[in-house]
Amino acid sequence: MSYKPNDHFARKAKDENFVARSVYKLEEIDVRFRIISSDDFVLDLGASPGSWMQYSSRKVGPRGKVLGIDLKHINVNYPNTICVKGDMNELKMEELITKYNIAKPFDVVLSDMAPNTTGSKFVDQCRSLDLCVIALETAHKFLKPNGNFVCKQFEGEDTKGFCDDLKKCFKEVSILRPKSTQSSSKELFLIAKGYQK
Ligand SMILES: C[S@@+](CC[C@H](N)C(=O)[O-])C[C@H]1O[C@@H](n2cnc3c(N)ncnc32)[C@H](O)[C@@H]1O
Repeated sequence: MSYKPNDHFARKAKDENFVARSVYKLEEIDVRFRIISSDDFVLDLGASPGSWMQYSSRKVGPRGKVLGIDLKHINVNYPNTICVKGDMNELKMEELITKYNIAKPFDVVLSDMAPNTTGSKFVDQCRSLDLCVIALETAHKFLKPNGNFVCKQFEGEDTKGFCDDLKKCFKEVSILRPKSTQSSSKELFLIAKGYQK
């Protein structure tokens, strides 16, 4: 569980039955940029413990679907969610799509994937960027035209280059550091709307 005592967002998450305080990052992104709609198919990378899946599941409703993937167990179970334990470096997405009978490309690809931090800012930024690259490659294969992409990154020298890559294939690209991000964190979120195949 990602709760921290005495933290406003952690207490709010507990009161509202979300499994992690991270939900308020996605909520802020979605309220500001309108990423997820009713009936959408959402792919959530780095989904454990599952608060983004809880939020997305409600948002897409009974005709939508949320597929979450993580190295760790994901703690959600709703009729419109599918949880898969796996490493995005190795996983064969095509096999999952066949196995779970996902009949159309995703409307939204989310990635809150984060590496275990090492204490070296440089190493952590490089590993975070690697995860962003995997998320974007996954979006290139499985995101529908005009679809939306959200990706967490530990800010570093390569952030601008990654944003430039996003600008080549999305109509709008924005950067947000959500209010619920802890002050010690280097994370920011890249929000890309309108995928151009
Ligand atoms: C900040 S947590 C995600 C929190 C989640 N969005 C939520 O709302 O509950 C980051 C997650 O990324 C996952 N992760 C890191 N590398 C991964 C990889 N290669 N494949 C799949 N998941 C990965 C971690 O296991 C961790 O659970």
